[in-house]
Amino acid sequence: MILSIESSCDDSAVAVTEIATKRLLFHRKISQEREHAKYGGVVPELASRLHAVALPRLLEEAKPYLDDIQAVAVTNAPGLSVTLLEGVAMAQALSIAKGLPLIAVNHLKAHIYSLFIEKEARFPMLVLLISGGHTMVIDVGGFDEMEVVASTMDDSFGESFDKTAKMMGLGYPGGPIIERLAAKGDPDRFPMPIPLQHSPKIAFSFSGLKNAVRLLIEKNQPLDEQTKADIASAFQKAAIAHLLQKCKKIFQTKRPEDFAIVGGASANMAVREAFANLCAEFGANLHLADLEWCSDNAAMVGRCAVDAWYLERFTDALSIEVSPKTDNIF
Ligand code: KG4
Ligand code: ZN
Repeated sequence: MILSIESSCDDSAVAVTEIATKRLLFHRKISQEREHAKYGGVVPELASRLHAVALPRLLEEAKPYLDDIQAVAVTNAPGLSVTLLEGVAMAQALSIAKGLPLIAVNHLKAHIYSLFIEKEARFPMLVLLISGGHTMVIDVGGFDEMEVVASTMDDSFGESFDKTAKMMGLGYPGGPIIERLAAKGDPDRFPMPIPLQHSPKIAFSFSGLKNAVRLLIEKNQPLDEQTKADIASAFQKAAIAHLLQKCKKIFQTKRPEDFAIVGGASANMAVREAFANLCAEFGANLHLADLEWCSDNAAMVGRCAVDAWYLERFTDALSIEVSPKTDNIF
């Protein structure tokens, strides 16, 4: 069995995965969303302190499995350094005290493995990762073959939902709030620019959209409920149209047989629907993780670690590195 730990952002989670069967034996998560909501986003120092309280509690709950653990896995990059360190410190202590091998898991790779909880991994696959920290298309050939095909030049897709919600004073995380509100709005009341629509660049950008939302909010003060819903709806429509336009370009050259969407924002139903249509148009199979595994969790870390175990990708507990950066991911 592998014990896995996640603390890259605002979710503390611990899981136990059976190596041979890939079965998830235990998973518990404590989300800090409520604590960060009043600030409209994640406060790293607060997040770090909350992990320091939550992780030992989660480990305590996993105690019945501890005697049978054969390796400890932990997210070490990318993420917030001060929160990653909480999980990594616990993993180092466990690994050293119990003499267990340590597996460092890349957070983005873990999101890809959210597709394979209790399943065999299936590659090649073209993957769209949309979360609070990242927006990228990755061509995945296997555990070690991951090529970033496109990524965002500024904000991430999820972050643009968070910022839109924050600007309208709606709370955090913005994704589910904006999605709910958008369903009640008229997406065509306010024209919204689709980012990089006329650019040949295969890249994403959400900061222009954020500014368009800011101007709309300023112009329509005081915001009534219907106007908030109409802004949310127009924003979501443009953000998804942007993802879709750029992915369509990638589909035209890559012609993937299998396409997946992972990350917290892959829970968005309008995103799922839009991409189901794109995949139908290109005859590609669409793969999605169960809703439970879209946002950060330790089950995907454990599942990724199982493949690392078979490839003997172990890390020295005394020299494991923590990094906020994305460039050395794959
Ligand atoms: O993967 P995740 O839990 O954490 C990161 O690795 O960042 O993703 C969290 C992000 C947040 O920005 C959140 O607003 C966004 O995913 N999100 C959504 C939805 N649910 C979560 N964005 C759009 N629509 C949603 N339904
Ligand atoms: Zn994530």
